[in-house]
Amino acid sequence: MSVIYLDNNATTKVDPEVIDLMLPYLRDYYGNPSSMHTFGGQLGKAVKIARQQLAALIGADESEIVYTSCGTEGDNAAIRAALLAQPEKRHIITTQVEHPAVLNVCKQLETQGYNVTYLSVNSQGQLDLNELEASLTGNTALVTIMYANNETGTIFPIEQIGLRVKEYGALFHVDAVQAVGKIPMNMKNSTIDMLTLSGHKIHAPKGIGALYVRRGVRFRPLLLGGHQERGRRAGTENVPSIIALGRAAELELLHLEEATTRERKLRDRLEQTLLAKIPDCEVNGDPTQRLPNTTNIGFKYIEGEAILLSLNKYGICASSGSACTSGSLEPSHVLRAMGLPYTTLHGSIRFSLSRYTTEAEIDRVIEVMPDIVARLRAMSPFKNDDAGWLQSQEQALAHS
Ligand SMILES: Cc1ncc(COP(=O)(O)O)c(C=O)c1O
Repeated sequence: MSVIYLDNNATTKVDPEVIDLMLPYLRDYYGNPSSMHTFGGQLGKAVKIARQQLAALIGADESEIVYTSCGTEGDNAAIRAALLAQPEKRHIITTQVEHPAVLNVCKQLETQGYNVTYLSVNSQGQLDLNELEASLTGNTALVTIMYANNETGTIFPIEQIGLRVKEYGALFHVDAVQAVGKIPMNMKNSTIDMLTLSGHKIHAPKGIGALYVRRGVRFRPLLLGGHQERGRRAGTENVPSIIALGRAAELELLHLEEATTRERKLRDRLEQTLLAKIPDCEVNGDPTQRLPNTTNIGFKYIEGEAILLSLNKYGICASSGSACTSGSLEPSHVLRAMGLPYTTLHGSIRFSLSRYTTEAEIDRVIEVMPDIVARLRAMSPFKNDDAGWLQSQEQALAHS
């Protein structure tokens, strides 16, 4: 059975062209770019080209790119660097819907004497800029806010946020792991000081990412050791993956407009047809300010995980935002922050497309979903019964 992969916000297929390009750097050119000999030293040139390719995708200068191992490292490094550079300031602003790569750092910082404001979101997952303004003070070291949400695709008004952040002299870090390659970006006209991206979300391999650090921003490295990355990230360069990320970035830029237009069209068809064919379901997230490849749909009265298992039987990969904590399923923190009703919260799933998604794949999902939902609802003791569902969930929570 072939796989229909609609989980591209989790990770993406590596572009075959990218694999071909990186293989010689695993097999033949395995030197260390810091070496004195030609065999290693010559790799510096290839790394430089890759750095330029990546910088071009976000409109940055190559000197502003710091390679990391993943998006999580980029987020951790940016937050730590911002705080180390301004030891007198003890306040951080973030949102309730960030990825754990930001939220868990913030939670730990709270135990170390930092004061963290977690901005709320409305039912569409949008921020209230008045709440941001009211939270900013001269003691705010850092505002760290995602560009686009991984679960709903909701896009935040990053430059409007940045203008307010700059009025208070705080540093502005943006987790753009889901947005890079899907939204055109130009760091030259931006208020962003640091921006995180991750290779495996843009058809490069896992294990490589980057942090953009605006020239002039005081930066303290997270990893200490050698002088790689101009002293901003120690560790021998992951040359094959850096080369891969460069080409993947070049392809993202090349395809950005046409791919996102195509993905949006496919996504909208999927969404509109499911909404028309299946009763009691709704789209979660901002209807207009949303990533073109993402749809998160709540199917009332059933469990998202049951839908995923049923889809899996057809080889269809999607996702729910639930976290498995100590054996019980916790609904997604993002959907909870949006204040969605219990009935929707538990039955929400995300489909995320890529430039490889085909019309036939979308047709297949449209074909199988109505029966899956109808079958699961027929088994649900609480169909059309909000009160009964709520009561059962409350009881389950009380016993967990
Ligand atoms: C918004 C966001 N930030 C950070 C990350 C972490 O990226 P990585 O998996 O490369 O560590 C992810 C991964 O899903 C993400 O969606």
